[in-house]
Amino acid sequence: MTPTATRNQGRVDALLARMTLREKIGQMTQPEKNSATPDDVRAHALGSVISGGGGNPEPNTPEAWRAMVLGFREAARESRLGIPLLYGVDAVHGHNNVVGATVFPHNVGLGAIGDPDLVRRVARATAREVAATGVRWTFAPAVSIPVDVRWGRTYEGYGQDPELVGRLAAAYVEGLRGVDWASPDALLPSVKHFLADGAARHGTSTRWDRAAVKSLSDDPTLANAHLAADFLEVLDRGAWTIDQGDVDVDERTMREVFLAPYRAALAAGALNVMASYGSWHGLRMHEHRHLLTDVLKGELSFEGFVVSDWAAIDQLDPDYEACVERSVNAGIDMVMVPFDWRRFMDALEAAVERGAVPLARIDDAVRRILVAKERLGLFDGADEPELEPPLDVVGHPDHRRIAHEAARRSPVLLKNRGEALPLPPTLPALLVAGAAADDVGLQCGGWTVSWMGAAGPITPGTTLLQGLRRWLPDTELMVEPDGRGSARAPAGLVVVAEEPYAEGMGDRHDLDLPAVDVSLIERVRARVDTLVLVVYSGRPVVLGAAAQLADAIVAAWLPGSEGAAVAEPLVGASGFEATLRTRWPIRSADLPLHPFGAEPHAGARPLFEIGQGLRTAPWSDATTPA
Ligand code: GLC
Repeated sequence: MTPTATRNQGRVDALLARMTLREKIGQMTQPEKNSATPDDVRAHALGSVISGGGGNPEPNTPEAWRAMVLGFREAARESRLGIPLLYGVDAVHGHNNVVGATVFPHNVGLGAIGDPDLVRRVARATAREVAATGVRWTFAPAVSIPVDVRWGRTYEGYGQDPELVGRLAAAYVEGLRGVDWASPDALLPSVKHFLADGAARHGTSTRWDRAAVKSLSDDPTLANAHLAADFLEVLDRGAWTIDQGDVDVDERTMREVFLAPYRAALAAGALNVMASYGSWHGLRMHEHRHLLTDVLKGELSFEGFVVSDWAAIDQLDPDYEACVERSVNAGIDMVMVPFDWRRFMDALEAAVERGAVPLARIDDAVRRILVAKERLGLFDGADEPELEPPLDVVGHPDHRRIAHEAARRSPVLLKNRGEALPLPPTLPALLVAGAAADDVGLQCGGWTVSWMGAAGPITPGTTLLQGLRRWLPDTELMVEPDGRGSARAPAGLVVVAEEPYAEGMGDRHDLDLPAVDVSLIERVRARVDTLVLVVYSGRPVVLGAAAQLADAIVAAWLPGSEGAAVAEPLVGASGFEATLRTRWPIRSADLPLHPFGAEPHAGARPLFEIGQGLRTAPWSDATTPA
């Protein structure tokens, strides 16, 4: 143990010795912000409060965020022992809940680039914007390795290469730290979801009882999705059939594929891990003592604390007392309750008093939480409001420049028949079809302002169309969101997008391009000499006939708020450099399609293999076209 750690340990132990059992349990309790007040935080010495996806103040402004968070933090200071509170958010691609924040490409796009330095800069900018609003904990990076890309969280992962995932996750953790964990603009990372969240098998999720399906509003968590589409229709498409499901890989694969990125992220200093909703051979992670305690805390010597996922312990047993007892005994240190937190505190206190949960387990959990707070400098005034970044860093041009770079570099050029790309600056006319060409919400995807995300001008940003206007000033842009015009053009650009989703709401039975998109592509194909297809998606999609109809195919993923940057490789202002990090299927029936050992479709050939990504040179390097 380094001297600092030893000194801090002494201070932590001295504080622990002064705490009542109820205060210790308070530190292990994490309500969501609408379920507890600052007075509750003060009276019960609550250790943390969170905003779930879309858990925004009204108005949703950086100022209102800071006022809300500081209200909870100051209340914690006024509790009997004044133990600082950690506020947590899902800043998974920037401070994405906050309107006006910089929204970076989702991890699927950062993985396609594979540049740790860029990831580090993205994390650092994110940390500055999040800390400016008083928040010091983000539930990122996800080190999810998506095995079946029909999974709605595929885009939260960097890809199917464990070594790359580990390298980028470590860079993200370093970026969140900055110069020191105790800096006022350092964020506590939460490496998630432990373990093997991305290996859940299609059809094994029990998150939604489809036979008993009544109304979305009956589920306080899923009601937060505020779905525009009909929930039964979303369920019929496959929602909640994979996420939170069962993993049946062997121990060797578990260690070599899914545990490996945690080793890298913990080595970078991460002091929090979030448990996965899923199960391994039927035993849920939230009560998996072997993995949570023996492996993570024992074998990997993890000093930090494990937080549960949102209401995840409730799924362990119909009896809530059993849920609390089994999860805490297995190694969960803080419980994201998030609603009835008093019930949780009472249940845990009763479990300790009846000897079902040893006091030593409580002390271990609280010590881990206090060590993390101590490491963040919260006991040394690192969270004095005046030391934190000013609010004008939220959405700062310097951060948007980083997001622009990432959005420019992340598109993967999958096909380029006849060197259709880059488009020449002398192009007389370009037909631009598809609503997604000019829609910030569609290019950002889920976890943006709201939990599920949404189409439309949901936050300030730039779009691909704006980028085309900038780089093709002498080209007539024929903009047709529905592509129902009749005039011909030498080239056409069709932009299609998955409708935004998050978590299991994005699970699908198949990934076929919707018929409306295929029809759009066919209509434009009939009117142009060269057709370029751009796909905004969180994962590979099944292109079907479009794979032949298009001369060029670009996987642009979910580039975030700076979508104008996507125009740059298309027009030769920059070159394509990114590559595929997951296998791209020919047909949905071939899924899951992954590189890990034998698979149901071992013989299935992908349309595009991991590593696919054509390169182009920017016009400035190449000879300018005649
Ligand atoms: C969600 C997600 C997790 C997120 C948490 C808080 O259900 O599984 O990734 O950090 O709840 O929003």
